[in-house]
Amino acid sequence: MITIHLVAPDGATETTLAAKTGQSLMQAAVGGNVKGIEADCGGLLTCATCHVHVREPFASQLPPPADEELAMLEFTASPRGENSRLSCQIALAENLDGLTVDLPASQH
Ligand code: FES
Repeated sequence: MITIHLVAPDGATETTLAAKTGQSLMQAAVGGNVKGIEADCGGLLTCATCHVHVREPFASQLPPPADEELAMLEFTASPRGENSRLSCQIALAENLDGLTVDLPASQH
């Protein structure tokens, strides 16, 4: 288990979850009923409603996005930032203990 933190768009409300490794960040967030991760496609990389902004030092520890993720990041409802990722493509692993992401203002 690792600990992950999801910060609401207000910048103040934070949800902390104990998450199993081997699942995606999106799966952990949905399982934890985190508001702000819609994940309409269930992780099939066709919706971009699982958009998050990954904080450092974790953003630079993630494998770079595949072409398919980069393509879907063009369709995020909220502006895409330098550390924007789709949470269904972030595989939770031990090195991501403490992972902190900011949720965008909107997923639609
Ligand atoms: S859940 Fe649809 S792209 Fe991530």
